Amino acid sequence: MAKTKTAYVCSQCGNDSPKLIGKCPACGAWNTYIEELVTKEKPGLPNLSNFASPKSKPLLLDEIKSDDEERLDMRDEEFNRVLGGGLVPGSLVLIGGEPGIGKSTLVMQIVLQLDAYKTLYVSGEESAKQLKLRAERLGHKNTSCYIVCETALEQIFTHINNVCPDIVIIDSIQTVFTEHIESSPGSVSQVRECAAAILKFAKETGTPVLLIGHINKEGTIAGPKVLEHIVDTVLQFEGDQHYMYRILRNIKNRFGSTSELGIYEMRQNGLREVSNPSELLLTQNHEGLSGVAIAAAVEGIRPFLIETQALVSTAAYGTPQRSSTGFDIRRMNMLLAVLEKRAGFKLIQKDVFLNIAGGLKVNDPAIDLSVISAVLSSSLDVAIEREVCMCGEVGLSGEIRPVNRIEQRILEAEKLGFKRIIIPNNNLKGFDTKKAQIQIISVKKVEEAFRELFG
Ligand code: TYD
Ligand code: MG
Repeated sequence: MAKTKTAYVCSQCGNDSPKLIGKCPACGAWNTYIEELVTKEKPGLPNLSNFASPKSKPLLLDEIKSDDEERLDMRDEEFNRVLGGGLVPGSLVLIGGEPGIGKSTLVMQIVLQLDAYKTLYVSGEESAKQLKLRAERLGHKNTSCYIVCETALEQIFTHINNVCPDIVIIDSIQTVFTEHIESSPGSVSQVRECAAAILKFAKETGTPVLLIGHINKEGTIAGPKVLEHIVDTVLQFEGDQHYMYRILRNIKNRFGSTSELGIYEMRQNGLREVSNPSELLLTQNHEGLSGVAIAAAVEGIRPFLIETQALVSTAAYGTPQRSSTGFDIRRMNMLLAVLEKRAGFKLIQKDVFLNIAGGLKVNDPAIDLSVISAVLSSSLDVAIEREVCMCGEVGLSGEIRPVNRIEQRILEAEKLGFKRIIIPNNNLKGFDTKKAQIQIISVKKVEEAFRELFG
């Protein structure tokens, strides 16, 4: 008889302990232990017969064929690119995101376009009717997509055996459970065991599996950091629910680089691929408005131009307000301090609001210069010319530090019809400015950039 036991498991790394403890000795996280019911199999000697006839055989590295993995074309340029050129057979891909961001929509839409492959969509969250409604809304016709609403892992495998699909989708891993473990669906041990079983299935049969996973408040994929270790690829679908842009980011990829990025726009009838993000992000005509600066940013390896907007106003209360959307607030505070120290602007009595247009979150430090310029522009109430864009990381002493992929940034600015671009002086090394049609202005310090922008 299997014996039921309670254990405490770290929700970050999956380490377990017989007692509730505050700090995880394995990963160092605090207050991550949660109680779980586990079924302990009777301990016994390992079954030696398993070892007698090994299914696997050690091979020399030279003997292993590496014929360039044939990848499945997902018929969605952005998705293919983020995966590193298509879906690898036998791979386990996790698509994470906050509830309601559009994970099911994205996957459903992709599945509906895949007429060439037989797909099985296993849903534990929605009824078949709901899925049908969504498919109708997305407006695609597909004759090779099977839908099943099921949460028991054993049943899911039975369905897979019956249907023999080319691609399996599981929406979501947090709803799946196996009878072998007594804890509830979504708990660390359930998610870990189920994901491991699915991984085994994917590797053994060569069937790729797309797993959908929820992200919890802290921004980690819920329950298990452990899940990220198990799967081959982790994609994160993010964006602001109130805006229409969604970014598909690759955080882990065993079959390609993680620097690729996909951009989508959420529409009434599904997601639309955005192949040229700059054009969308820069549509507003802001000629003559102060507090707007255009940054030549790079996310992953994609260059795009983005609007940074700032509003500086007199503080109504003793403590001035600082608020920022899409940009790290601590970094903004640092930039304000630089502005105060280096350019002599008294911002202490001012509220500062910062916004990156389109609800995008930009991690590229090269937008520092545009942030600081937008703040100054709003503070002086002097508009920055529409024809100029900029990039550069700002250091603590007000120096402009070099950025990566400068050629791409310049090309993108040129392509979008900008006349001038301000870049860090250090980026000029080994760069032929005569080649570019756009006027390149190199600066060493924020003061020089300000002189350029505001005279
Ligand atoms: P959904 O895919 O259910 O999110 P998730 O699976 O990540 O929880 O999508 C949720 C939102 O997407 C929903 O609030 C409505 C919106 N949506 C559209 O705007 N257009 C569409 O065509 C569809 C299907 C959904
Ligand atoms: Mg969903």
